[in-house]
Amino acid sequence: MQDIEPDLDLLRHQAVQACACAYAPYSGFRVGAAVVDSAGRIFSGCNVENASYGVTSCAERNAIAAAIAAGAGPLMMVLIYTPGERAHPPCGACRQVIEELLDPDALIIACCDSEQHRSWTVRDVLPDPFEFPIED
Ligand code: THU
Repeated sequence: MQDIEPDLDLLRHQAVQACACAYAPYSGFRVGAAVVDSAGRIFSGCNVENASYGVTSCAERNAIAAAIAAGAGPLMMVLIYTPGERAHPPCGACRQVIEELLDPDALIIACCDSEQHRSWTVRDVLPDPFEFPIED
């Protein structure tokens, strides 16, 4: 499944760049994310908030949407960057989207400005996902 070894430094760099573009006037919490496909193409996203809070979209989902829109191949990894000393895991909604589009064994990596980083498999963060109940 893994055709390439993702360049983690580049993935992080792209997530940091995207984070700098985050639109987060309400929470002040900026997030950048980057995903890599099986050909090594990287797609990034940032959180985009809205005065109607519920329509805010997270960095991870925006990165995945950018990948899908660009015709990416199978997605291999998600990296999440948040400024500060703590690495943050993805929210529940993002876990559901990640689960649908990445392999259960794919890695999610969270990093920040400190040495701290965390990683999980997709299966770790959402072990029993909702799946559309197609009748056969
Ligand atoms: N946020 C993300 O971008 N990703 C997550 O996984 C969790 C939360 C954003 C949404 C909102 O703009 C801000 O962080 C505070 O919740």
